[in-house]
Formats: sequence, structure tokens, C-alpha cells
Amino acid sequence: MASITIRGLDDDLKQCLRLRAAGNGRSMEDEARTILRDMAAARSEAAPDRVALRSSAAQQPVAGPAGRRVLLIIGGGIAAYKSLDLIRRLRERGATVRCVLTAAAQKFVAPLAAGALSGERVFTDLFDPASELDVGHIRLARDHDLVVVAPATADLMAKMAGGHADDLASAVLLATDTPVLIAPAMNPHMWGHAATRRNLARLTADGITVVGPAEGEMAERGEAGIGRMAEPLEIVAAADALLARRTGETVDRPLKGRRMLVTSGPTHEPIDPVRYIANRSSGKQGHAIAAAAAAAGAAVTLISGPVNIPDPPGVETVRVETAREMLAAVERALPVDCAVFAAAVADWRVAQPGREKIKKSNGASPALTLTENPDILAAIAHRKAERPQLVIGFAAETEKVVANAQEKLKRKGCDWILANDVSSETGIMGGDRNQVNLITSDGVESWPPQSKDAVAGALVARIAAVLAGPPP
Ligand code: CTP
Repeated sequence: MASITIRGLDDDLKQCLRLRAAGNGRSMEDEARTILRDMAAARSEAAPDRVALRSSAAQQPVAGPAGRRVLLIIGGGIAAYKSLDLIRRLRERGATVRCVLTAAAQKFVAPLAAGALSGERVFTDLFDPASELDVGHIRLARDHDLVVVAPATADLMAKMAGGHADDLASAVLLATDTPVLIAPAMNPHMWGHAATRRNLARLTADGITVVGPAEGEMAERGEAGIGRMAEPLEIVAAADALLARRTGETVDRPLKGRRMLVTSGPTHEPIDPVRYIANRSSGKQGHAIAAAAAAAGAAVTLISGPVNIPDPPGVETVRVETAREMLAAVERALPVDCAVFAAAVADWRVAQPGREKIKKSNGASPALTLTENPDILAAIAHRKAERPQLVIGFAAETEKVVANAQEKLKRKGCDWILANDVSSETGIMGGDRNQVNLITSDGVESWPPQSKDAVAGALVARIAAVLAGPPP
């Protein structure tokens, strides 16, 4: 890919990129490349004739606002970058998404990015003659099943509460007769201010539904508290629930009443109190599976090694460091109906980690004796008591992907294996996309390259099909 120039970006965009890059453990240049690659992929996914899906399960959304028309109003806050992800999540579930960007939002995300991800024209101006002839703000307000405001800034909430209509976003919000869901995001002091509390009370009394905000670190260095925007998947779940309540439908929850456990992320094996052995796993695939299973109604325990991504909504997350801690947490989470082992567990640990920091001594390197870690997947798959009905592993391979994974399926005694090529040039380990082969005793199915969320959705649909029927 061509070289990327970060220097030319304005400060706000640079700050957005810096935050995303830090969150994903990448350089700013690599993050920019990843965004461009994902946008190109999302565009090609949007063109159905260019997508060759070999598995019907791979394209089946589990639950969600399929066929719904969502108007997404993006307010001007640092969380606006997450709204780009929200567009993808809504579209993955079959919704049509049109975006309105406030003037302040355009300081954080470009209308072009929202347009590329939504595959629709983006609206920014109340007095745009082209819009008024074509769609018009009144039709924009009415032509949708749901309006989502994310991020809902303190200012946007104040405008909504006061019934202002001096820009396109506020005019649409005043004119709409469809349900409105807001995802507030702001500094904790602004969230706690009496004015915002008043506005929030007014909005909920007016029938507006609110999701979040969550507690956590703010973009401002050193600030923490309540004010982080809800994660995109949480917003999607709230949108589903709101639409279902309105129409009296029940949300499709094929895993309701089922228990699942998922392992995710790397493990860290200590060398001494300050050093450890680790690998490049980000936890994105495992976390996405846990989130998709929870969205499908399962009670999910996620056992995660050290990662830099947020806990998925609606999931009980247990944090561990080492392989042995992970095994113990997995055993505590039993019994479950289905266990998915997506963690990249370190195969070895240092037999005797230093109690104190190992010091350099006269140029001699310390000799580290390694000992094998327990194989968590094999241990659970070979259990006599409390073996989950469905045990699913991953195979991270760099050569002979399918053959090695088939051998792993037999050796570990699991029911299915998702094999992926983690050679560095695939960008799978740590990246946002994955290409897996589902290996079962019936054969091999190659799924197309797709987002890790889409892989998760397809896998959960498969699991639900196997576990169909009332829980025993
Ligand atoms: N796994 C596990 N415990 C381990 C090692 C691996 O539970 N100690 C699980 C992983 O979560 C994954 C599967 O086993 O579901 C395969 O992991 P992988 O790293 O591909 O295989 P390994 O067993 O480590 O074999 P190798 O490194 O030789 O390929």
C-alpha cells in the first residue's frame, strides 16, 4: 500500500487516530492503513455481486434490525470515530443506515468516511438545496424506523431538550415521529452538571431511550468517570430492544437459556516480576464471539487474557494472566452447553520465574528453562464429567492450515475447529478481519474473508442450530 502521511492531518483527526492506534496497539501509520483497508473491504462487501459466500451460515445474521432503516445522527465528540464502527455493525445486521453529521461532528469524522461505510448519501446541511429537492429534512425525519444519536453530546442533548431546530440534526430530531435512541458521550463533569441532568430527565420524560454512558477513561489525559459512549454492539442491542418493544416483536434469541464460555486473548507467562512471554493476540475474535453469543441470548462467561479492548456488553468477563489461571477459570465456569477456545494460550511457561528482577551479570545471558502449559481445550474436550455438548477450538497455523487443523481436531478431541492462517502477511492476528475454515467431522468449509464480528455472528448461528431446542 502507498505510504501514509499523518503530518497533513488536522489536530483533531490526529488525536482520533492516536487514540484508536493506542487502543489497538498499532502505530498511527498502521492504524491508518487498517482503516483504509477496512473501508475498501466494507465497500466490496456492500457490492453483493462481488462477494462469494460459500457457507449459508456465514451470511446469516443472528438477530438484529434486518431490513430496518436507521437514521444515525453523529454529534461532535471524540467518540464520533466509534460511530463509524456502529454503521458497520448495523449494516452487518441487515439495516440500511443513513447518516446526518453535525458541523462539530465533521471536525472528528469526514462525511466521506460515513458515506463509504453506509453506502448512502450523507446529510450535513439544513439549507442544502439538493437535499430539500431530493429528500428534505421532514422526509429524512420520517422515512426511518429508528433515529440513533451517537455520540449525543451535551450540546445536542440540550438542543433536543429545548426543542431547537437551527441545524439539520436538531430539525430532524424535532420533526421525527419515529423512536429515538441516544448514546450520550461527554466529559464526566459535563455529564454530572445540573443542566445535563435536567436535560436528561426532560428527554426521558419525552420518551427518548438512552444507552450508556459507561464509566472509564476519557480522551483527556488522566480524566476518568462516567461519560464514555456505549460500545457500538451495546448500541445495536439497545436499538434491537427498542424496535422490538415498539413493534411487539420478540427479538430472536436462539441461545436463550443456554450457557457458554469463551476464552480470548493471549496469556502472559512471567519470566520475573517485570518480564513475560506473550504473543500478538488482540482478543478481538474471542470477544466478538462472546458478544454475539450474548446478543443471541446465551449467558456467557468470557475468560480473557490481558487485552486492550473493552469487555463486551452483557457478558461476565473474568480476567486472567497465565495459562494455568485460564484453565482454573474455565473449570470454574463449567457446566456450559458450548465452549469456544479462541485464546492464543502460550504453549510454554518459564519453569522457575525469578522472584526478583533478573539482573545482567557480566555479559552472561540467563538460561530460561521452559515447561509446557496445560492444554485447556484438550483438557475440557476429554473430560468425562461436565463435558460441554459442543467444544470448539481454533487453530492458528502458518502453513498447511487445513491439514494441521484436522490433525489438531483429532488430537484435542474437540467437535469443531476454526482454522486460520496467522502468517504475518495475512494481518489476521491483531487485525479486524479473519478468514476461517470450519473443520468438523463432516468436512471442511471455507468461509470468505470478513470482519471478525461477521465470523462471530456466523459461528453463533451455527452453534444455535446445533443447540436448537429447549435446554435440557
Ligand atoms: N489451546 C489451549 N491451551 C493451550 C494451547 C492451545 O486451550 N495450552 C487451544 C487454543 O485456544 C486453540 C487451540 O487450542 O483453540 C489450538 O491452539 P494453537 O495455538 O493453534 O495450537 P497448539 O495446541 O498451541 O499447537 P501448535 O502451537 O503446535 O500449533
